[in-house]
Amino acid sequence: MTYKELFDKALEASEKSYSPYSHFPVGAALLTESGKVFCGCNVENRSFGATRCAEQTAIQKAVSEGEKEFAAIAIATPKSDYPVGPCGVCRQIISEFADEKMPVIYGCSWENHIESDVETLYPSDSLHELGSN
Ligand code: THU
Repeated sequence: MTYKELFDKALEASEKSYSPYSHFPVGAALLTESGKVFCGCNVENRSFGATRCAEQTAIQKAVSEGEKEFAAIAIATPKSDYPVGPCGVCRQIISEFADEKMPVIYGCSWENHIESDVETLYPSDSLHELGSN
C-alpha cells in the first residue's frame, strides 16, 4: 500500500467524524505490519474532555482486534489549510506501539501533506522499560 492510498483512507475516515462541537473532522488510517488497515475518526462528546481523537480510535480498534505491530499511520484534517500533526496525547499513544522510525503522514490534502516519523514528532520518549508484554 502506498502512502497516498493510506492517506486516502484517512480522508475517507474523516467523513465519519462526529465533531458537532469543533466542526473539525479528522480521519486516521493505521497500517499494520500484516497489511491490514484500521481507520478511525474523532468522536467528540459534550463533556469536552471525553472527546477521542481519530488516531486514538484507530489504535484502539487495531489493538482490540489483536494487532499491535504497525507500519505507518496517516492522518487527514480536510478542513484545515495546513497539515495538522497529531496532538500531544496522540503522540504519546502512537509511541506506545510504534517504532521510533515509523512513518507518520499527515495533511489537509495529499497536495499539502508532510511525511514525518514518530521520533521527529515525539523526541526523547522514555519509560519503555516499564512494559513487559
Ligand atoms: N483531533 C484529532 O482527532 N486528532 C488530533 O491529533 C488533533 C485533534 C480532534 C479532536 C477534536 O475533535 C478536534 O480534532 C479539534 O481539536
